[in-house]
Amino acid sequence: DVSISSVQELAESGMQAVPARFIRPEQELASFRPYSSLCLEPIPMIDLEGLLDFRRQFTMAAISSACRHWGCFQIVNHEIPQSILDDALGAAREFFEMPSREKQAHKIDPSIPNASGYGMQSSEAKDKVFDWGDVMFHSNLDSWPDNPATYKNAMDAYARETRKVLESLLDVISKELRLIPTYFRNVFGEFEQPLRVNYYPPCPQPELVLGLRTHTDPLVLTALLEDQTRGLQVKNGDKWIPVDPESDALVIFVGDQLQISSNNQYKAVSHRAVVNNKKARISIAMGLAPNAKARIRPAVQLVDKAATSRYETRTYAEVRASSPNGVRW
Ligand code: SIN
Ligand code: FE2
Repeated sequence: DVSISSVQELAESGMQAVPARFIRPEQELASFRPYSSLCLEPIPMIDLEGLLDFRRQFTMAAISSACRHWGCFQIVNHEIPQSILDDALGAAREFFEMPSREKQAHKIDPSIPNASGYGMQSSEAKDKVFDWGDVMFHSNLDSWPDNPATYKNAMDAYARETRKVLESLLDVISKELRLIPTYFRNVFGEFEQPLRVNYYPPCPQPELVLGLRTHTDPLVLTALLEDQTRGLQVKNGDKWIPVDPESDALVIFVGDQLQISSNNQYKAVSHRAVVNNKKARISIAMGLAPNAKARIRPAVQLVDKAATSRYETRTYAEVRASSPNGVRW
């Protein structure tokens, strides 16, 4: 087995066969075989401008249906200026295109749980099979790298704008679930806002690996900004649905904490990233996480009197510590 510090370096070394520890188990590889995309319904696309005009009821119903049946949707007309999206992706690309030594200056300290910094998505200690991707992870919006010079401002602006959008979606969702408008703020406290930049280098054998393993996000809501390269897939029923990137859209994922709050009326969506053999792919995932002390449990209003709630009450810190899937969040 090789000892490597980044998948990017490995990919750039020009090897032709991926090391064994990146190869997914046989039964998982079977799910990679593409369906004819003609017979797949794409994930819902929601025009948020519709919340502001006569389409409001219709738009709220579309968001509700997406949260209940898909656990994800794309949004356009979210009011985030296109330049902010482009600059965030541009800064991310500049970061990963720096020489290895510059990136290693921000290396994740594996002894700190939930540490911010640069590294492979997978770690020796936790993962049997490695993901074909590197990350720059920010557990909260502090500790930005100085290099590239554009990074801090670009990510800051993106994070601020996207947070507004996620919070306004939560307002819509609390209405739709017939909770009071401040429900999520009350139970989750001041949100943490983790952000992960993903870098998936081209892979000589993309049919054997995943860029990011199958997981649900352990958060409340996540926004994903992607470059124009395909790779994201979401699970709907027993089918994996590829998501076509749109330059002006964000993908929104319902996370585990929202599934719990809604007492399973909403579904946290399973998703994964596949890679290709031609082009590196970049995505930026950013979400709202409950405060560590927040109590995680279904809203009492949504637990019918006859049935007991499906979840025990734990704090978010406990939930996070016992998270099984190991994707950095
Ligand atoms: C993620 O789930 O955080 C990223 C998925 C992707 O890169 O498409
Ligand atoms: Fe995710």
